[in-house]
Amino acid sequence: MKHNIIFTLFAAYVLSSCASSNKSTIDAKLDHKVDSVLKLMTLDEKIGQMVLYTSDWDITGPTLKSDYLDDIRKGNCGNIFNAHTAAYTRKLQKIAVEESRLGIPLLFGYDVIHGHKTIFPISLGESASWDIAAIEKSARVSAIEAAASGINWTFAPMCDISVEPRWGRVSEGAGEDPYLGSKIAAARVHGFQGNDLADSLTILSCVKHFAAYGAPLAGRDYNTVDMSQRVFLDIYLPPYKAAIDAGAMSVMTSFNEYDGVPATGSKYLLTDLLRDQLGFKGFVVTDYTSINEIVNHGVVSNEADAGLMAIKAGVDMDMQGEVYFKYLKKQVEDGEIPQKTINDAVKRILRVKFMLGLFDDPYKYCNEAREKRLIYAPEHLEAALDVAKKSMVLLKNDSNVLPLKKGEKIAIIGELATSTRDLLGSWKAAGDWDFMKSTLDELKTYNGEANVLFAEGCKKFGEDRSGFAAAIAVANRADKIVMVIGEDWEWSGEAASRTSINIPGVQTELLEKLKALNKPIVLVLMNGRPLDLSKENELADAILETWYAGTMGGKAITQVLFGEYNPSGKLTMTFPRNLGQVPIFYYEKNTGRPLYLENPKYKSRYIDSPNDPLFPFGFGLSYTTFAYSDIKLSTNELTEKGEIKASVNVTNTGGVAGEEVVQCYVRDLVGSVTRPVKQLKGFEKIALKAGESKVITFTIKPEMLAFHRLDMSYGTEPGDFKLFIGGNSRDVKEVGFKL
Ligand code: GLC
Repeated sequence: MKHNIIFTLFAAYVLSSCASSNKSTIDAKLDHKVDSVLKLMTLDEKIGQMVLYTSDWDITGPTLKSDYLDDIRKGNCGNIFNAHTAAYTRKLQKIAVEESRLGIPLLFGYDVIHGHKTIFPISLGESASWDIAAIEKSARVSAIEAAASGINWTFAPMCDISVEPRWGRVSEGAGEDPYLGSKIAAARVHGFQGNDLADSLTILSCVKHFAAYGAPLAGRDYNTVDMSQRVFLDIYLPPYKAAIDAGAMSVMTSFNEYDGVPATGSKYLLTDLLRDQLGFKGFVVTDYTSINEIVNHGVVSNEADAGLMAIKAGVDMDMQGEVYFKYLKKQVEDGEIPQKTINDAVKRILRVKFMLGLFDDPYKYCNEAREKRLIYAPEHLEAALDVAKKSMVLLKNDSNVLPLKKGEKIAIIGELATSTRDLLGSWKAAGDWDFMKSTLDELKTYNGEANVLFAEGCKKFGEDRSGFAAAIAVANRADKIVMVIGEDWEWSGEAASRTSINIPGVQTELLEKLKALNKPIVLVLMNGRPLDLSKENELADAILETWYAGTMGGKAITQVLFGEYNPSGKLTMTFPRNLGQVPIFYYEKNTGRPLYLENPKYKSRYIDSPNDPLFPFGFGLSYTTFAYSDIKLSTNELTEKGEIKASVNVTNTGGVAGEEVVQCYVRDLVGSVTRPVKQLKGFEKIALKAGESKVITFTIKPEMLAFHRLDMSYGTEPGDFKLFIGGNSRDVKEVGFKL
């Protein structure tokens, strides 16, 4: 076996290094180890560490380089993504460790966004659970299964705030709110990275897509992002910051431009803001060929200059672009880039590889027996079922059509009822759907074959109405109709923007025909974005939003429909009445002519639609009901160093136990710049038995009221505030206080 100098060197070093306790000593030792590797490296090998190629096991972008094994062998590629299983990653790691000159171990990255093999609901669905512990658990399970399959780096959490339902990637995020998005981003980093990156069941997280990728004009993916710096810093930045503060050790640049500069070449974003202001200590990787795409943006005229712009901006690793591989060496030799710049980039990458423990044991993630034991472990499937149920949002339930009663004869209509692939949604990583049971199968298992009739009726998209008659005939034989409708899983995710947010094809037309039967109709939605449900809301008696609920989605839908679990989800993105209202979000500004003015005409309104959305941010029903009373403040004066305790009494006024997400919003009535009419500042998900009451208290501190003021300084301003508490952003009780 090729004698590997690096391990000899390290074996000695590691043995000599005594265990040390304090952080600065650990950091110093880490830096010493990194420096001792760096000094052994040629410029080619340094640049090799700045290269990331996809394997041919999964393609997540426009290009593929087939000879990546040779690149690893030559030390020209130090990192691989889209490769998994313990066996295959072992094979590639072996080439790196035993056949390259220095044997530096590989990073193995993968888009473990909402699960690896056990797939959880898409992230937008998970966010609707408002259950931070459950979301962290989801990331933890995902990390365990990914790590067991040879992966040590996930390209998650996606922290892009968005108010654009046309944009397909809202499915990967946590919705429109910076406060909730920040809590979720931090939870995901904790879930992925655990307390110790050296643990062989934790993996490196990657904050993406930096930055403001979620605000493409017209919702068209990769399109221009154009926003004020204040909106960026106050609304879009917080979740990225929260993930970094939670300890994320890699950041991925975004495809879009920000303020006229491609993010992948933006020194403001990647150095001034990310490193200097936010104190990020990890490494920066690009998105797929996004260095090359700087040429398309039109700020450079060739790839060599694109590489120069990226390295000067602060990009450490080139995903799939081959730009660093082709041009960096000559640019260093010609003095266009100081050697130190390369050294700093490589040190940041090596540091993370040391933190992962890869130099101590490069095969620590490549244990096939452990993989077999951990993949689809019962507790993982149980966790996926739990999160799936908690992510579902009951949008309508007239006359308590839901929950269904066991033994009722129900007609299941819709292609999505039989689909398992759609349940996994986009970015399904290594999830496989043959393993799963469809929603229809689960309904039959639960309610008995004889009580569950089925007709497809129509496809997820297209104009074929030939199945309508059979669907109507089947529905006629049932007590209740359950239509499973929505979007094909490929209609959201990357490169999947839509100019319509209606239910596709003729699904709603079939719903109209079924409505004529005068039987209760329940809609089960499967979709990756907020939809315009105005028509469906008129036609259906009940609507359950299930997103793409993952490996256990069919069972979760069944248990919610039959009341085994009382739905508790709340929307994290506003559902508009129509696309014409978009962008529409709860933290809007009051404007100079707000709707409540007396004048019937001259005010901020539409002549053909109300202003308010169909379903507001934070909205979700339950099989029980909740009442809010006695909203109180500990004081009406918040001093600079003080705090206010805001409390409210919540009662379960219905007949069954249920969970409620109690939400606390604040409004700054007068600022040096205009302020949103509401901003989420706290929430608590509580469980109450029928008839039970509980007092919920939120603590409001001055720093929670800070924002970027007229002069762009960050801080608070004295004045009058309103505080709102309720079960969504619309139906709230309010009180006032002063700062
Ligand atoms: C894609 C996505 C990014 C993903 C990367 C690797 O283009 O934009 O989210 O992590 O490529 O698959």
